[in-house]
Amino acid sequence: MNKIIYLDAAASALKPQSVILGETDFLTHHYSNAGRGICARAAETDDMLSHARLAIADFIGATSQQIIFTSGATDGLNRIANMILSRKAHLRVAVSDLDHHSARLPWVAAANRGECELVIMPLNANLDIDIEKMPLADVYVITAMSNVIGVPQDVSAIVRAARAKNPDVITIVDAAQYVAHLPIDVRAWDCDALCFSGHKIGADTGVGVMYLKNPESYHTDKFGGGMVDGIASATGFNVLPAPMGFEAGTLPLTQIAGMPFAIDNLRENPANHAYTEYLFDALSEINRVKIISPRSASLVSFVVDGMHPLDFGAMLGAHGVCARVGNMCASWIHAHLGINGSIRLSHGWWNTMDEMRDTINIIKEILK
Ligand SMILES: Cc1ncc(COP(=O)(O)O)c(C=O)c1O
Repeated sequence: MNKIIYLDAAASALKPQSVILGETDFLTHHYSNAGRGICARAAETDDMLSHARLAIADFIGATSQQIIFTSGATDGLNRIANMILSRKAHLRVAVSDLDHHSARLPWVAAANRGECELVIMPLNANLDIDIEKMPLADVYVITAMSNVIGVPQDVSAIVRAARAKNPDVITIVDAAQYVAHLPIDVRAWDCDALCFSGHKIGADTGVGVMYLKNPESYHTDKFGGGMVDGIASATGFNVLPAPMGFEAGTLPLTQIAGMPFAIDNLRENPANHAYTEYLFDALSEINRVKIISPRSASLVSFVVDGMHPLDFGAMLGAHGVCARVGNMCASWIHAHLGINGSIRLSHGWWNTMDEMRDTINIIKEILK
């Protein structure tokens, strides 16, 4: 079999032609640096940047000033952690076992340095954050959708519960998976920060978004060109207001140019959850397969009795099925479940129902 069935959307989405053409058009006809030039090309690039920022703001219910470009979710999640840590020491930070390494490790590292204290938000039997049992904290790290379990968390209820415990709380949402599946409204969620990557919604790699509800309440953690209003003396300088004040250095402009096209594509071709249901039902009938994600999830994660996930993944790969296997940079949820890894099938706008059927036939063939 020569055909590739790409079922690894949760790791990175394939790129729609509109994104590729949008980036090519920018590179060919409009490219220059942004925020630095006064020629016609520079104005076109500035226009592209404003347009992309506005499209992203509209996509998540924010304003342009609240949208800060990063290199990805990991970058944003590290940056917000560092900005909070530089402002106040000895905070209590609540994390959960749903977290990806990039949401939790910045805080684990800080706790290991003695800069904060970690507390754990327990999960209930459905593997959702248990709102009734949330501990008191100063910062809450909320994984809106786990990349292993694939279920949306009730972010507004979690933020509300956090604020009820501590009115000065800071809530950080990791929306890296959620954003590819469900609409986000940061106003309704009332979160303080939210991060995601472009590449998981069909845009390019190297670009991400850090939403800050009140950017003026943070000091930037990055310094360089494009973020300074003026140098006051040998040591004094004034930082531009958000978003530029948080965007030192040349931005990933080509990748940013692709973002509005990826958003349009996502709106026109939303992920088809019938694929998950089909895979879930078909896998449920295979004896050696134990599914760890619910039928309603955005993906299917499972283990195979008597077979290491990496061995199973290699066999799937040999049959042309691209799946993610292992701990998926989400070690805590695997430890929570008492397993060393799993196999994940995650679909995107490019998949077809025939590919789901072929995948199931291949899995049956492997396990025959
Ligand atoms: C839930 C979650 N958070 C964060 C990340 C990190 O994203 P990136 O590697 O694009 O920075 C991922 C990537 O898999 C993820 O699934």
